[in-house]
Amino acid sequence: MSLRNIFLIGPMGAGKTTVGKELARTLNRPFLDSDQEIEQRTGAAIPLIFELEGEAGFRARERALLDELTQRDAIVLATGGGAILDVGNREILSARGTVVYIRASLDYLYKRTARDHHRPLLKTPDPKAKLQELMEIRTPLYTEIADLILDTDGHTPKWIVGKILRHLERPEKSP
Ligand code: S3P
Repeated sequence: MSLRNIFLIGPMGAGKTTVGKELARTLNRPFLDSDQEIEQRTGAAIPLIFELEGEAGFRARERALLDELTQRDAIVLATGGGAILDVGNREILSARGTVVYIRASLDYLYKRTARDHHRPLLKTPDPKAKLQELMEIRTPLYTEIADLILDTDGHTPKWIVGKILRHLERPEKSP
């Protein structure tokens, strides 16, 4: 099995962290989550970073961190939903590992994030409309760099992990 890094991309609420933890456990590899890493390093929660530094400040931290973490070997990394907005991030994710897009429907994402207070971009009067807007902008970007696309709706994290393992055994490009 390839020792290439595995990078999970996809929208907020798709389940990247759950899948990533399970995948890393199965492969006996380190698991990293870029948001958690930013929180640990700054000692500040993501909403507070947005409040103090704005989205631009958060994105600068995210960019620097992704450049650092993706230079490691054989890690499983869950990225934040907006990481793919930056062309440089897309390039390094694509070049330094196998990119798995965890895709989900708007309804699924809305249900999973509805009572969430940890995602500053969804602190709006109409979070569903915001999710829809983000999806429209970001779906082509996720798709652009995906080596593998998996739909979460109706599937367990275990099923998704199984699909990823199978892909790693036969790593042909298969979005
Ligand atoms: C964001 C997604 C979040 C986090 C931040 C911004 C986004 O990560 O990075 O709130 O722009 O979609 P998750 O996808 O892990 O929720």
